Amino acid sequence: FVHQLADPAVAPAELLASPLAPTAESGLPLPAALYGPTRPNSAGADLACEAMRAPLLAAVAATRVPAVAEARPEDSAAAMARLAAGFGAWSARPLAERAGALRRAADLLEARLPEYCGLLVKEAHKTLGDAVSEVREAADFCRYYAEQAEARLGEQLLPGPTGERNTLRLHGRGVFVCISPWNFPLAIFAGQVVAALVAGNPVAAKPAEQTPAVAARFVALLHEAGVPEDALALLHGPGETVGAALVADARTAGVCFTGSTQVARLINRTLAAKDGAIVPLIAETGGLNAMIVDSTALPEQVVDAVVQSAFRSAGQRCSALRLLAVHESVADGVFTMLAGAMKELSLGDPALLSTDVGPVIDDEAFANLERHVARLRAEARLVGETPAPAAPAVPRLVAPVAFEIGAVEDLREEIFGPVLHLLRWSGDVEQLVARINALGYGLTLGVQTRIDSRAERIAQLARIGNVYVNRNIIGAVVGVQPFGGEGMSGTGPKAGGPHYLYRFCAEQTLTVNT
Ligand code: SER
Repeated sequence: FVHQLADPAVAPAELLASPLAPTAESGLPLPAALYGPTRPNSAGADLACEAMRAPLLAAVAATRVPAVAEARPEDSAAAMARLAAGFGAWSARPLAERAGALRRAADLLEARLPEYCGLLVKEAHKTLGDAVSEVREAADFCRYYAEQAEARLGEQLLPGPTGERNTLRLHGRGVFVCISPWNFPLAIFAGQVVAALVAGNPVAAKPAEQTPAVAARFVALLHEAGVPEDALALLHGPGETVGAALVADARTAGVCFTGSTQVARLINRTLAAKDGAIVPLIAETGGLNAMIVDSTALPEQVVDAVVQSAFRSAGQRCSALRLLAVHESVADGVFTMLAGAMKELSLGDPALLSTDVGPVIDDEAFANLERHVARLRAEARLVGETPAPAAPAVPRLVAPVAFEIGAVEDLREEIFGPVLHLLRWSGDVEQLVARINALGYGLTLGVQTRIDSRAERIAQLARIGNVYVNRNIIGAVVGVQPFGGEGMSGTGPKAGGPHYLYRFCAEQTLTVNT
């Protein structure tokens, strides 16, 4: 439907009001019934079908999160020594064997879906829908990198004019330190670790201190799937101590980090100051992600995409929407509809199927968000808010909220929660894109328009890694929508994309005079 309407001959409705563009009068709150089926916690068949839902709910109810011991400095040093010694044997394993271990891991993960969902709900406070999606994504990473390794990391004969036999080979670099965040404590943790492993590197994995148990369970699963003890070690603890020691270790041959831009800079400085080999950093960091809505956009589609993008996972995704920029000619209508939809979201216990938005991760995150919302209440115009439950069943609930601000530049740093900033724009869309680029981040961007050429022009101008047109801006699919940003959002290469594994490898050209 959208495509049929996407006719380049349609004049921008900022200039010529489209008959389908809403006016302020048509922008009525959406009826609740319209928003029922598009609640942002749908995890498809897994939750729609009673036979699959029952074991998931039972596993969540039965899950107790085990305590995990913090690594002492001597544990980290011993692990690094063991991994460095294990490098040769692991990297010498045939590719098919390393890839086989990843495929077995994917099978085991899927067979244990309820167990992992239980941990994700109880330890990371994920909704059940988000938990199911995350386990599926972790399994996708395992299978995708297994397939990519076999397709891309084998040796290549390079025919040429030298009269010699030239071969290009890829091999692991050495011990990779993988440092992952709490917001995808299984999928991002797994993606980093299995990519490094399948490329032939031993891995020292340091999961977020808020979510160690699910990482520990997955490491045990990888060992069961055939990854030897001296190719993978798990080190728990704070980034400031355990993570910092691993990054600074002389045996570290590469670092893969997902987290804040600020910590990525710290890691980069530590690596740059080290003697010896020049150690690469793969960093996937924050975002200040926007969605540009022009006057030809379909308002219901916009509101659905915004609710998903800004509030699913309590806004705790690096891809989440922080700034909704709507053309002034349709802004009133879209904002009013959005406010209506926000009233329909249910905020509460993530273990309940009816919950759309669960709690935020910890007290520090909660306090930061409360402070930010208090500042916005004083300085900006409140447009929409999800009602808080009268008697909250769980702590640290932050109600989705949307405020109108005056300028793109009012946003300076990533706000990691269900807080959306709204903006009316007018004039030249290219200038708007330039201002979004000037924020310095470059992770995700949404475009809502029925003018194909405009969407294409915005994508060309945007210095942004993932641009989504006429849909939400979260939930990149492994192997289909390679994910990752540029600028302050990361170094690339994109996770779940065809170039990712190369960065974990060193290359050797072998030239033999025949
Ligand atoms: N890959 C996730 C997404 O696309 C964010 O880490 O939402």
